[in-house]
Amino acid sequence: EKGTYPHYMLKEIDEQPFVIRNIIQQYQNEDGTIRLDDDIRDAMKQSDRIYVIAAGTSYHAGLVGKQLIEKIAKRPVEVHIASEFLYNMPLLSENPLFIFISQSGETADLRGVLVEVKKHGYQALTITNVPGSTLSREADFTLHTFAGPEIAVASTKAYTAQMAVFTLLAVDTANAQGIELDFDPLQELGIVANAMEVLTDQKEKLEKIARHYLAVSRNAFFIGRAADYYVCLEGALKLKEISYIQAEGFAGGELKHGTIALIEDGTPVIALATQEHVNLSIRGNVKEVAARGASPCIISMEGMNEETDAFVIPAVHEFLTPLVSVLPLQLIAYYAALHRDCDVDKPRNLAKSVTVE
Ligand code: F6R
Repeated sequence: EKGTYPHYMLKEIDEQPFVIRNIIQQYQNEDGTIRLDDDIRDAMKQSDRIYVIAAGTSYHAGLVGKQLIEKIAKRPVEVHIASEFLYNMPLLSENPLFIFISQSGETADLRGVLVEVKKHGYQALTITNVPGSTLSREADFTLHTFAGPEIAVASTKAYTAQMAVFTLLAVDTANAQGIELDFDPLQELGIVANAMEVLTDQKEKLEKIARHYLAVSRNAFFIGRAADYYVCLEGALKLKEISYIQAEGFAGGELKHGTIALIEDGTPVIALATQEHVNLSIRGNVKEVAARGASPCIISMEGMNEETDAFVIPAVHEFLTPLVSVLPLQLIAYYAALHRDCDVDKPRNLAKSVTVE
C-alpha cells in the first residue's frame, strides 16, 4: 500500500535506506561477517570469468556490479544486454559463471539466455527481488535483493538493492580468495543508508532543480566519467520513461566525438561528480557544454564540491557512490514527470515485467 504517498515511486525512493539496512542484516552473521551460500562462493571461486546478463535498469546495476567485482574481488566480468546476448555472443571462457539480474525474475529476454546457458551445462546465479520467480527457479543459485515489492513501473529501490548485493558478493568472493580489504563493507553500506536518508530529506531542493532545468525542455543530457557514467545511463532512463523527455546519458569524454553537436542554448546538462580521480575532467566537460550555451547542473559529492554546484551528496566510499548518486536523479525524474502531469507510476507503453522477447 502506498499509504500517505501520492505515488508508489516516491514511496519506493524513500524506502531505499531501509532496504540497504535490511540487506546488511539479512546477509550478516552474528560475528559481523558476511553470510552467502557456500555454493555461491564456490561457483564464484571456480569460474574464470563472470558474464552478467540483464535488461534496462538491472543492466545498469550490472555495469556497477562489474566494477565492484573487478575492483574488490579481482575477477574479470563482462556485462551484456540480455536481448542481444545470443546474437552477439562473446567467445566464452573455459569456466564461465552466468549472473542474471532481474527485479521481477520474469524477464523473457533473460530467460532466453538462461535456457541456452543451461543447455551447455554452465552454472547460473540469479540476483532477484522475487525468489520464487522463473529465473530464480531455473538458475542453480539465487541471491535475494530483499527490497520488498516494487510496484512503480520505474525501478528505484530494486536497482540500489542489486548494487548492494553485488557489493556483498564481491566482498565474499574477495574473502574466499584471501584478499585483504582496506574497508569494512557492512559499515560502508551503513554509511550509504545514512546518506540516502539525508538525500530523501532534500526533496524540495530537488523539486526546484527539476522545475528549473526540466520544466519546458524537450531533451536533457547526463554526463559523467568512471562510475558516474553508469549512473548517468540510469538517470537518463529514469527521466525518459516517466517524463517522456528525451534524455541521454554519456561519458564525459565522448561529448566531443559527436554528441556535443546537440547542445543548444539552454539544453540541460546534468553532470555527476562523485569520483575524485575524474573530478577535474568532468568539470572540464561541463565548461565545454556551458561555452556552447548549455545550462549545466552539477551534482557533486562532499569533499570535491564547488560553490556553484547545484546539489551536493554526502560522502560515501568511492566504490559505493552509485548507490547514493542515483537518488537525486530518481527524484529529479519524479518531479520532472510530476510537473508535466505524467502518470508517474504507470508510464505509457510500459509494463512492469516484460515477459515477451
Ligand atoms: C526501468 C525498468 C526496466 C527494467 C527492465 C528489467 O525503470 O524498470 O528497464 O529494469 O525491464 O526488468 P527486470 O529487472 O524485472 O528483469
